[in-house]
Amino acid sequence: MCGIVGYIGDKDATPIILEGLKKLEYRGYDSAGIAVLKDGKIDIRRDSGKISHLEALVEANPLKGSPGIGHTRWATHGEPNERNSHPHVGYKGQVVIVHNGIVENYLELRDELISEGIQFNSDTDTETIVHMIEIYLEQEMDLEEAVRSTLKRIKGAHGIVVLSTKEPEKIISARIGNAGGVVIGLGEGENYIASDIPAILEHTNRMVFLDSHQMAVLQKDKLVLKTLDGKPLDHKVETINLDPVSAVKGNYRHFMQKEIHEQVRSLTETLAGRIDFNHHSIVIPTLNIDKIDFEKLKGIKIIACGTAGHAGQVGKFMIENIAKIPVEVDIASEFRYRDPLVDENQIVLAISQSGETADTLAAMEEGRKKGAHIWSIVNAIGSQAMRLAEGFISMQAGPEIGVASTKAFTAPLVDLYLLAVLLADKKGLLSDGEIWEHIVEISKIPDLVGTCLDREDQVRAIAGKYKDTEHMLYLGRGINMPIAYEGALKLKEISYIHAEAYPAGEMKHGPIALIDKAMPVLAVMPKDKWYEKMLSQVEQAKARGGKVIIVATDGDEQAANLADDVLWIPSAGWMVNPILAVIPLQILAYHIAAMRGLDVDQPRNLAKSVTVE
Ligand code: AGP
Repeated sequence: MCGIVGYIGDKDATPIILEGLKKLEYRGYDSAGIAVLKDGKIDIRRDSGKISHLEALVEANPLKGSPGIGHTRWATHGEPNERNSHPHVGYKGQVVIVHNGIVENYLELRDELISEGIQFNSDTDTETIVHMIEIYLEQEMDLEEAVRSTLKRIKGAHGIVVLSTKEPEKIISARIGNAGGVVIGLGEGENYIASDIPAILEHTNRMVFLDSHQMAVLQKDKLVLKTLDGKPLDHKVETINLDPVSAVKGNYRHFMQKEIHEQVRSLTETLAGRIDFNHHSIVIPTLNIDKIDFEKLKGIKIIACGTAGHAGQVGKFMIENIAKIPVEVDIASEFRYRDPLVDENQIVLAISQSGETADTLAAMEEGRKKGAHIWSIVNAIGSQAMRLAEGFISMQAGPEIGVASTKAFTAPLVDLYLLAVLLADKKGLLSDGEIWEHIVEISKIPDLVGTCLDREDQVRAIAGKYKDTEHMLYLGRGINMPIAYEGALKLKEISYIHAEAYPAGEMKHGPIALIDKAMPVLAVMPKDKWYEKMLSQVEQAKARGGKVIIVATDGDEQAANLADDVLWIPSAGWMVNPILAVIPLQILAYHIAAMRGLDVDQPRNLAKSVTVE
């Protein structure tokens, strides 16, 4: 996935684009570049490395002009070096492009262009697009028609932004499929384009979101939206009520640490407006739940990737236990190709922080094609997973910049708990008193999470003991098993330690052979109905000489006596335990990675949202 920013207006585009790119660096940070139009020419600075390196290039060799476009890249085709950095210029030097997505038929197009005498200067698929636009311009097409004709030739999902010296008063952008968002910001006598809201929110909160197969022709005082075959479209201007400051690190060392500590506030926001304390009920109007015929409803398929998938696994326990609705949790990249058995009597529920994850969006589309009701739980406002669903629950957690997801994991856990109670209420399964009991339990969560966060120093001390380990085995059972998987994912993705998770009951079927002094075991073992079973597994691990860390409920002396180290969490109900247990695991992973001197917010090879397959 990549970050794109564009500006058109009377100001110098360069500082606006550089600041915007910094706010999108979480989307990819292999290379970065910027291009502006000045005196009828295209001027470019670009190189491998981060935005800070691009800023140094621009400072050493200033670049001024407007309009302008910029790009920060997560490499798909072509290694991250200068020649493969975006923006890319056409063979006649009249058109410049930035691109998010993959040209699936780029080899045949590249061969065709080379046979026409076009010389390529990079290994990217993107370069085929900009050369083709210039070829169509030579055939006396205007820029809009040349872009449209090119998009008809390329396969795959794309988001592109194009400038040309032939029509310097325009920026043209187009979107095909799920290759990352394109949002247009409407200013006064100036306009903006970006992959995501934070890049332009300080300039305007009036936004227009491009859908697939749409093209925007942007001038400094005008936006024209069209379909890819040229039919004019009305556009809906949305006002984004997000605080620009919330997307800034503040005095935390990393966004991830800030976002871990934001979870009291973010969970409070997640609950905001969802509980009717007067009528003892859960209210989520954006879900359009009245479209569901509960007499015919056969089940819910939760689909997601990575951390979002772990949230779905916890949600299964909540929904099945409270609402008595069968729930299957599926990895989106598997679901989309399984020819899944879903129909109009099922709900496909997507969970996604970015709302732009290609596999998750494709799985939603697969469910929609088969007639299922499509719901989503999404954080990024205006993202496709939010806009394409029949009903959605906004996580309301605020922008999450750190690649390793934290507050956008606990937010859907609370959303799923709220949903479970709402579904049960709709089915008439709960008395007023029972609903009130759940509301009281849910309302305590932010404070309990705050108690876990207050214990950061104790967790940091334990992190210091394990920061040099090469392996870690996470174990959990029941509703806490997904927390073991989430804890392992956090550690592996930011510290690069080989961490894996296993259902504790499975250890005796092979993995227990792994355990020795070099394989610390972390057991998620709060006081709940799986406690005794977990205890025996942990004792077996201990007996084999492994060091044991236990996530334990306050006051659990057995755990304290058994473990080498304990990550304490406050006493809570069994459906709240997972939300609390993940907090010390987030903090543990964060401090181990920070102590190892790694780039916590932008781990190697990763991007915040995977908008390609
Ligand atoms: C989690 O820390 C990772 N960043 C990754 O697993 C992420 O959860 C996954 O890519 C799904 O992203 P989404 O929630 O934006 O769809």
